[in-house]
Amino acid sequence: MAQINPSILSADFARLADEAEAVRGSDWLHVDVMDNHFVPNLTLGIPIVESLARATDIPLDCHLMIEDPDRWAPQYVEAGAGSVTFHVEAAAAPVRLAREIRAKGARASMALKPGTPIEPYEDLLPELDMLLIMTVEPGFGGQAFLDIMLPKIRRTRELIAKHDLELWLQVDGGVSVGTIERCAEAGADVFVAGSAVYGAEDPAEAVRKLRELATKASADAWWACGH
Ligand code: DX5
Ligand code: ZN
Repeated sequence: MAQINPSILSADFARLADEAEAVRGSDWLHVDVMDNHFVPNLTLGIPIVESLARATDIPLDCHLMIEDPDRWAPQYVEAGAGSVTFHVEAAAAPVRLAREIRAKGARASMALKPGTPIEPYEDLLPELDMLLIMTVEPGFGGQAFLDIMLPKIRRTRELIAKHDLELWLQVDGGVSVGTIERCAEAGADVFVAGSAVYGAEDPAEAVRKLRELATKASADAWWACGH
């Protein structure tokens, strides 16, 4: 079953607890942390993640678009995140960092910007619980989906199959009813959606619809046959 993670970047930051409640039934809540250095935008940090973790039962999927994740990522586990994603472009020691996140009790995940290839990281994949392929340049919600990322999703799914890994493959950026099926066919199984969920009249219904489309599209895909 496809997992849908609404991104609170498109929610009302003054009403985060209500906005979490509005997507009840979601698998995870996607929390975009930006530091105005790694990306040209600034959002939120550890104190808000701590408050949000107390305010909702939905597990938090923290996407760190920050410099020096080696220093900061473990603190997001302590703040209550169930999954922590760091960007490989910013990490000094990705293997050590993934091990530290896991040792602290969260799922360890690594993100690739659109211009970063997957191939150099093949041997590192067993250290991860999830790989995030950005389908827009990170920094802002509401951008157009980059179709040119589909081959990278497909190649990553092939690597997961080749090594028989239990690795979730997440896509983030421009995911909507118009693009989610292409992502699922290519091999993604975890879908972040910001504007497509919080821009909808009924966010919980938008999550259900996205999950249905993705689950159907992946059911017959080469990589999911028999699952
Ligand atoms: C962008 C963030 C995304 C963003 C996606 O840098 O990482 O999580 O919220 O927003 P949409 O779904 O609107 O493209
Ligand atoms: Zn994100």
